[in-house]
Amino acid sequence: MTIRKVHSGPGEAGRLTNTTYSSRYFTDQIPEHEIPPGSMPARAAYQLIHDELNLDGNPALNLASFVTTWMEPEAQQLATETLNRNFVDQDEYPQTEQIHHRVISMIGRLFNAPAEGQPCGTATIGSSEAIMLGLLAHKQSWRKRRGDESAKPNIVFGGDVHTCWEKFTRYFDVEQRTIPLTTDRHIIGPEEVEPLIDENTIAVGAILGTTFTGQIDEIEGIDKLLRQVKQEKGWDIPIHVDAASGGFIAPFSYPDVKWDFRLEQVRSINVSNHKFGLVYPGMGSVVFRDVSTVPEELVFKITYLGGEMANYSLNFSRASNAVLLQYYNFLRLGRAGYERIAGNLMENAGRLEKMLTASGRFELLNDARYLPVVVVRPTEKDGGVDVFELSERLRTRGWIIPAYPLPPNAESVSVLRMVVKENFSRDMAEMLGEDIEAALAKMGGGQPSPQAEAAAGKQRRIC
Ligand SMILES: Cc1ncc(COP(=O)(O)O)c(C=O)c1O
Repeated sequence: MTIRKVHSGPGEAGRLTNTTYSSRYFTDQIPEHEIPPGSMPARAAYQLIHDELNLDGNPALNLASFVTTWMEPEAQQLATETLNRNFVDQDEYPQTEQIHHRVISMIGRLFNAPAEGQPCGTATIGSSEAIMLGLLAHKQSWRKRRGDESAKPNIVFGGDVHTCWEKFTRYFDVEQRTIPLTTDRHIIGPEEVEPLIDENTIAVGAILGTTFTGQIDEIEGIDKLLRQVKQEKGWDIPIHVDAASGGFIAPFSYPDVKWDFRLEQVRSINVSNHKFGLVYPGMGSVVFRDVSTVPEELVFKITYLGGEMANYSLNFSRASNAVLLQYYNFLRLGRAGYERIAGNLMENAGRLEKMLTASGRFELLNDARYLPVVVVRPTEKDGGVDVFELSERLRTRGWIIPAYPLPPNAESVSVLRMVVKENFSRDMAEMLGEDIEAALAKMGGGQPSPQAEAAAGKQRRIC
């Protein structure tokens, strides 16, 4: 038999076998905490990072987070095209700034900002920055109103707030007056707020869609109380509504519930556009009822980028593409599109809820659902489900579903929370239901998980 030799030109054999994975970058140790001394080809660097990220969870199965994990290809294209634009360079990218204005105006109108006033606002990295900016404006306005340098500011909110509210009090030196939750009440209302407010209260925080249970605080009742207090005592205490999660659900799913600028004391609202605004992270907004709510001295006039630009933010440079993506969704979906998506989310959350409660092993934490979030706690049936173990077992199938105890004083209640997002279909709800059944069938009888024991003894917080 003749063995025919295949001839190749000089170096060709080398090129053919020299694939990305055959290069030395895949056998060499990559330094973890130092910048490597030498360079590597772009493809190798890409592949190394791409492969390492396979150890992350799958965003499509991440029901822990409220943050958007899917957008249309056209949105992806727009995001990639605009990656190189710094949002703060307004003089250089004036059209991006125009779009920013439009986005904020659209949100202000969605939240029923009064037509006769001059609502204003800004895009932020997320709701945390938006809340800080809202509360800083209220702190400064209070300081000017109060006119007493020795007075100590305080803020009133419930134990149902996200950590960023506590962060604000610590970072900006404001006394935190927290209304604790109880095992059967996980929101706040006027009767709990009233005893805590005084002439040094810079604001009351109210939540539209709490992080822990998805419920809403009694915002209309709190507004009524504060209007009364203003009339009787002259204290003009603003409400800042944290609509991080509910801001793009309420206007479409329950438009008649009053929580926004229709209420007199609501002076500022934040929303996470990267949640049900359906935009990739990081994009949030803060909107003020009127330009007079933001003390002038907090708004910086910056000239060194050319022209003069007003800046009210905690950051300076940031990517502009999330702002553009929000504009894309507003144009693409319109109100009708948001309404349909919100409807689908609620329906699929309802289906998941039914499957879980039908087993008799879970019960809903609350009757009314204001967000497409399913929060269940175990019933007594069969000794009660260890939600921490269930959460871990589901992780082996790829589902990311957190279990956690509620904040003080409701920490004896441990729950399982599932955030239903746009890409979570009815089909996936059915598959998750089956996987939960299968996991439950394998559980029971053993020792409680270490997390369940820890939760029984001490409180843990989720972010
Ligand atoms: C009610 C609430 N407020 C604020 C935040 C913080 O939002 P962001 O992650 O956009 O900073 C969250 C996050 O989940 C939240 O649920």
